[in-house]
Amino acid sequence: MECITLALAKGRTAKGAIAILKRAGFHFADFHEKSRKLVFYDTKKQIKLIFVKAVDVPTYVDKGAADIGIAGKDNIMEAQVDLYELLDLKLGKCKFAVAGLPDQKIDHTTVLTVASKYPNVAEHYFEQKGITVDTIKLNGSVELAPLIGMADVIVDIVETGNTINENGLTIIEDMEPISTRLIVNKASFATKTKEIQQIIKKLESVLE
Ligand code: PRP
Ligand code: MG
Repeated sequence: MECITLALAKGRTAKGAIAILKRAGFHFADFHEKSRKLVFYDTKKQIKLIFVKAVDVPTYVDKGAADIGIAGKDNIMEAQVDLYELLDLKLGKCKFAVAGLPDQKIDHTTVLTVASKYPNVAEHYFEQKGITVDTIKLNGSVELAPLIGMADVIVDIVETGNTINENGLTIIEDMEPISTRLIVNKASFATKTKEIQQIIKKLESVLE
């Protein structure tokens, strides 16, 4: 069997993903959270795991540098790449939402300024609603933008709602549920069908 390269997102969901892989029979014995290593093999050498920035996982898979990937739906949507999304690992559950100050209105009469770590997601969402937006790309602390008058609203991830609440913002619209997904490069799926199907089957059996 050919070894499959899996790009795994660093960060909050990595430990959970490694645990699911272990239950599915893929044990990465030398993986531990504090390791600085970026490449790992499972004990049976079926999977070569590369540990990459969450936002880059869809790119590795899209370019075929990884056959499959485990990444958040947020980063998959933002990357706008053409791949198969075949499993929901149900880790890191949260949602995309539009948030702003409590009196903020969203209508078609003005151009709305939207700050987000996810400008493509934000643009696409408002475009579908026929609302013209100016997007400002930020890399974090997005909740600040409406408070200091830099943007009318934000598009960001909401998990507990604490960040929004503690900054006096409110959810204006819920957009889309987010969780960790298994993605597959289309060419890899055609050429390494058997290997990838087997990994998916094993993962499915422990996710049920
Ligand atoms: C994320 C996200 C929200 C917050 C949501 O920010 O961008 O701000 O977590 O979680 P909550 O609803 O439970 O508060 P993160 O902590 O990653 O910081 P950053 O945006 O500054 O990178
Ligand atoms: Mg944040």
